[in-house]
Amino acid sequence: MFYKPDEGHGLAHNPIAACVSPRPIGWISTISATGHHNLAPFSYFNLVHNFPPTVMFSCNGLKPDESPKDSWVNARDTGEFVYNVATFPLREALNQSSTAWDIEVDEFEETGLKTLPSELVKPMRVAASPIQFECRTIEVKHLPTNRPENPNTVVFGEVVGVHIDEACLTDGMVDYDKVQHISRLGYLDFATIGSRFQLPRVFVKREQD
Ligand SMILES: Cc1cc2nc3c(=O)[nH]c(=O)nc-3n(C[C@H](O)[C@H](O)[C@H](O)COP(=O)(O)O)c2cc1C
Repeated sequence: MFYKPDEGHGLAHNPIAACVSPRPIGWISTISATGHHNLAPFSYFNLVHNFPPTVMFSCNGLKPDESPKDSWVNARDTGEFVYNVATFPLREALNQSSTAWDIEVDEFEETGLKTLPSELVKPMRVAASPIQFECRTIEVKHLPTNRPENPNTVVFGEVVGVHIDEACLTDGMVDYDKVQHISRLGYLDFATIGSRFQLPRVFVKREQD
């Protein structure tokens, strides 16, 4: 099949997200300008560069009261956020943290998740999450949308601090089986990391190497 997104797919369910699967889930903690703690999952999330490590998450749509989502507002207002890795044991709390609470609700308290302070930024870390990145906001970008009631705001951030639970390392490498990452597929589907294989890297020698 071929379809133009603005003309419809003709299927019972929108296939777009299933076509780009899996997507990592950024479990993003922020703090509001007035000091309220916030936590929410974003599957429009990724690492976009290594030097420096740079991540992005995208807030789509609005809260039920039609106000903007807290995560991007907080990341803009305070210039900081934390990425917590989403894991299989934490999947229920992760899902619960997607509830559209008011900005002054402490979402760690609501979900019962214990926190750890960050080293370099104010937002707290999810203590039970074995990997966390402390991030400083680089840019908040409002992308065009063909549904004005469904804005698309992308937050880019530089990773300024990395926490890795050493229990999740094997021979100095992050062990996927120990971390138990979860990712988002299409529809209501999620995934864990299953079979893996390695490919030798094809390097192109450049003049400056
Ligand atoms: C697994 C999962 C992934 C999600 N991914 C996104 C996303 O990429 N973008 C988005 O705007 N909302 C996403 N949501 C919904 C937000 O988490 C939800 O709107 C949340 O209330 C936003 O919180 P905030 O207002 O504190 O930013 C996702 C929810 C779940 C459960």
